Amino acid sequence: MRERFYVTTPIYYPSDRLHIGHAYTTTVADSLARWHRFAGRDVYFVTGSDEHGQKIQRAALAKGVTPQAYVDEIVASFKHLWEKMNIRYDDFVRTTDDRHHRAVQAVFQKIYDQGDIYKSAYEGWYCTPCETFWVESRLEEGHCPDCKRPVELVKEESYFFRLSKYAERLLKHIEEHPEFIQPESRRNEMVNFIKGGLEDLCVSRTTFDWGIPVPFDSKHVVYVWFDALTNYLTALGYPDTDGLMEDWWPADLHLVGKEIMRFHTIIWPIMLMALELPLPKTVFGHGWLLFDSDKMSKSKGNVVDPLVLIDEFGVDAIRYFLMREISFGQDGNFSRKALIERTNADLANDLGNLLNRTLSMLNRYFDGVVPEPAASPGDVDQALIDHANRLGKEVDDCLKQFKLNDALIRIWQLVGRANKYVDERAPWNLAKLEDKSELSSVMYNLVETLRIVALLIKPFLPETGEKMWQQLGLAGLNSKSLADAVWGLLPAGTQTAKGDPIFPRIEAEKEEEPAEEPKEQKQEETKPEGVLISIDDFMKCELVVAEILEAGPVKGADRLLKLQVDIGSEKRQIVAGIAKHYAPADLIGKRIVVVQNLKPAKLRGELSEGMLLAATSPDGTLELVSVSEAIPAGSRVK
Ligand code: MSP
Repeated sequence: MRERFYVTTPIYYPSDRLHIGHAYTTTVADSLARWHRFAGRDVYFVTGSDEHGQKIQRAALAKGVTPQAYVDEIVASFKHLWEKMNIRYDDFVRTTDDRHHRAVQAVFQKIYDQGDIYKSAYEGWYCTPCETFWVESRLEEGHCPDCKRPVELVKEESYFFRLSKYAERLLKHIEEHPEFIQPESRRNEMVNFIKGGLEDLCVSRTTFDWGIPVPFDSKHVVYVWFDALTNYLTALGYPDTDGLMEDWWPADLHLVGKEIMRFHTIIWPIMLMALELPLPKTVFGHGWLLFDSDKMSKSKGNVVDPLVLIDEFGVDAIRYFLMREISFGQDGNFSRKALIERTNADLANDLGNLLNRTLSMLNRYFDGVVPEPAASPGDVDQALIDHANRLGKEVDDCLKQFKLNDALIRIWQLVGRANKYVDERAPWNLAKLEDKSELSSVMYNLVETLRIVALLIKPFLPETGEKMWQQLGLAGLNSKSLADAVWGLLPAGTQTAKGDPIFPRIEAEKEEEPAEEPKEQKQEETKPEGVLISIDDFMKCELVVAEILEAGPVKGADRLLKLQVDIGSEKRQIVAGIAKHYAPADLIGKRIVVVQNLKPAKLRGELSEGMLLAATSPDGTLELVSVSEAIPAGSRVK
């Protein structure tokens, strides 16, 4: 029987659009799923959205729409993002699906029937952003110990789940299955948490209704984490236990961020024990993607939109950066500078150049046709061949241990080896020899190495694998597997098709170039720093609140957007260099701050009647200065 691999991501809250930190988990899951499929295993990959609970209900209320309408719109944006990121999941579970409703009610009923859920009264603290109950002793200065935000006092009748009853059994399982909680540091944290004593968990709420009703008591909705965790069974058709459940349960890997390990390694396994189902083989708690060493979050205003990055750098540069830069399991920093450096060094220079120079030489010496290699390779050739031949197995071993960045490092070691091989074997010198057999071997070896690299990187960088395959003149990449990553399968006589560079170098200078601005504005910017001005000088600048009514592109200027704004007294057009930072649709209705008495200027033929204020961080992230809807257009800012 073929090996199986059932992998899941957390299901994301549709309280807001996803940022690059969320895309990180899903990219890793997708690459693992693609790799295991490529390695000949049967794979099931599930993701989804966690749509119930107080947080979502409040967000919908604040926007004046129903929770269902609210989540529908955001979930559509999730699916769009996954498509853009080339995420190929097998199922997407929405917790508002009927099938999920059925699964959650079945789980709740079963655990209740066998006596592990009981009714009592809850009085304690609740963190709505994390949807977490806290006992007083775990709070940190009255705040949520996870997200550090204020908690609320909750007093209500609730159903409770007997977590405490299973603590010993869970500790024993963790001890006997070292692979269950990974990495090891998180295992120790979880063991300490359990040893600190498990309180029974409140698993229903009565003070709002956006959730799945408790099957036998419709005054209560099921606690959102109890609801959400069940998604891993919903995807397999639970409570039906034949079919998918039989084929795929227990899951091989739940990939989650470190802050939600407790739910996945304590509450979830205990739910499964109560249901008499086997526990997942591994829960892996990865680190966070930090932005300037701080967790990315909307409230801190430091979120990075993956769609903007994809438009700018291409999807594979982003996928590569996420998996290569961050040591899986640890926190890692995101910055545009690091992304540009990584892309230029590894993708444009190492990989792109190897492909480019190899195919150029092949064109020059053999009209682009792969020659027959000589029968007996020399030592230097054999070293390259051996390296390429063992790489598939090495990468597979890395991925079985969830070492994604090690896997990529190893692939790039072969790329580096091949670049060095070009210099060592100097085909340009071999081409001067009468006998072309050595040149033939060297060129064959280079193209064959590239074929193996293309195969092995495709699960990580699907578009790049395809592009390389095409330039190598090969067909049928989708039907290839790890078994094809062995030396010598490249047929001599293959006509290659050199194309554009797969990763053009990104000019760092160009990145920092300010958007084209009117002359007058440039002069403002060049004022020497530190010059003191009087309040009268400052008051000469008339700053007012403007509401954005329309936004759209400027023809031929991909950094500029054209905005129609209401400044209270009149409507104006403003042209600003913000296209790389905002999608036009996201700007409508925003109340920004503009200088209304700036001399008008023309930018790319478009009249700009004012200037908007924006803050730019050192790495180039830009955010408009804005106010809430409470301040009407035309209000003076000073
Ligand atoms: N809805 C719950 C999960 C329920 S799973 C049964 C949830 N959702 S979330 O949208 O807040 O977060 C989903 C995942 O995104 C978590 O694993 C979290 O760690 C991850 N990330 C959120 N921000 C992140 C970073 N900045 N970096 C890496 N991962 C991040 O929790």
